[in-house]
Amino acid sequence: MARTTGAARADEGGTRSLVSLYPPPLAGHGLVLHPWSEAILARVAEWGAHGFPYHAFDMTHLRDPARARGVLARMTENGPHRHFVAMEGDVAVGRASVNLRDEAGLYLWSVHVPPEHEGRGVCRRMLATLMTWLEEEFVGGPDFVLSTNAFATHAHRAYEALGFETTETRWHFDREIAEQLWRVSPDEREPVSKFVRFANGRWEVRTHLMRRRRGAAMNVGPAG
Ligand SMILES: CC(C)(COP(=O)(O)OP(=O)(O)OC[C@H]1O[C@@H](n2cnc3c(N)ncnc32)[C@H](O)[C@@H]1OP(=O)(O)O)[C@@H](O)C(=O)NCCC(=O)NCCS
Repeated sequence: MARTTGAARADEGGTRSLVSLYPPPLAGHGLVLHPWSEAILARVAEWGAHGFPYHAFDMTHLRDPARARGVLARMTENGPHRHFVAMEGDVAVGRASVNLRDEAGLYLWSVHVPPEHEGRGVCRRMLATLMTWLEEEFVGGPDFVLSTNAFATHAHRAYEALGFETTETRWHFDREIAEQLWRVSPDEREPVSKFVRFANGRWEVRTHLMRRRRGAAMNVGPAG
């Protein structure tokens, strides 16, 4: 694990103090987390797509130069979010983002491994590397939180292995998924049918809120 800039330490508010935009590349568990750059974005643009119900994660739109410029600007701006791409050598294998200022805690989101790199512990390894850095950077800061659609069972298992526990499960309106649910055939909808419902005139998705206490044990897996 690379050491951090040392520029940030949690104050009373946890993560309220100024953080330098990005640490040096974060190495751990056989991969390295980098901030987004033009070169890295070009590799992410080549990723295979998951399709419904994970279509929101697909990155094929990055093959359009205008959209790619917009995404890169968003991924590198100095706001509350930090966005990382996990690299194995010069191969981009996953991505994850964290909101440093969410009231609920250090909020992990956009956790995504393309189909061609699934099942090798990339998700667990990159999140373990990211959370280890965040624990060092924000000493005494808040716990980790995330939300996950209940149909994302692989993600759920990876998060549990990393010490996350479900704190609440609720029905949630996700506009993008709801729009797709209107469009897909009953066959395509079948794998998620246990996790969605049509209620109050709209499609809703069963969603877990999960929390991990800082320092909780992480089982990164055999390749970790
Ligand atoms: C969910 C997602 C991030 C999982 O990524 P992943 O890198 O395949 O996840 P992991 O490898 O950590 O876990 C997947 C499998 O690999 C295996 N594995 C885990 N660590 C391993 C390791 N170190 N070595 C080898 N295999 C390993 C696990 O057994 C796991 O299998 P299981 O689900 O049957 O238990 C990815 O499938 C994805 O992006 N899906 C679409 C978007 C999505 O759902 N995002 C999460 C939203 S909350």
